[in-house]
Amino acid sequence: MPTPRTGRVRVAVLISGAGSNMAALIDAGRHADAPFEVVLVLSNKPDAGGLAIAGSGGVATAVVAQAAFGKDRAAHEAAVQTVLEAHGVEVVALAGYMRLLTPFLVGRWAGRMLNIHPSLLPKYPGLDTHARAIAAGDAEAGCTVHLVAEGVDDGPVLGQAAVPVLAEDTPASLAQRVLASEHQLYPRVLADFCRSLD
Ligand code: GRF
Repeated sequence: MPTPRTGRVRVAVLISGAGSNMAALIDAGRHADAPFEVVLVLSNKPDAGGLAIAGSGGVATAVVAQAAFGKDRAAHEAAVQTVLEAHGVEVVALAGYMRLLTPFLVGRWAGRMLNIHPSLLPKYPGLDTHARAIAAGDAEAGCTVHLVAEGVDDGPVLGQAAVPVLAEDTPASLAQRVLASEHQLYPRVLADFCRSLD
């Protein structure tokens, strides 16, 4: 039976860790005029901290542990896809989902899958973004929300937010400042994106 529409875009958030961006998206989706709602939080890690936060907030959670699939990435993604479909998901928001996707899932969600990355892309795709920004002497760091394409942290940029890099910054202190800006940017960009859908 098809999932009944509530009028709001049904979003799944995929996580692997703490889930602070996930929490910001769940909160934003609860505003009376929000164009989306988070209907599912899915993790590839059974111990992801965000699962408990989502569950205690009454959001459906699912774990599709990659360990259960060994090196079979296609089988893991097929299992993820099955869960997404079971929840009537229309848009996928990656939020600290630490798993490279294959063309299967990227293709299935083309134009409907967003990611947040803690740098001002195209600078610093991949890991250790804050240390790299500090090492380069950048005056600004920040975060990017983009549509997911096949390359690592690649795809059309939907929004960015910049923060200053301070002389005394460590990667950890810069990460904290960027993360706070992520919590503002991601809900705003996801809302704009969902409003733009048919
Ligand atoms: C964020 O910095 C996000 O940009 C990156 O992973 C981190 C996830 O943090 N992709 P959280 O799990 O949302 O707290």
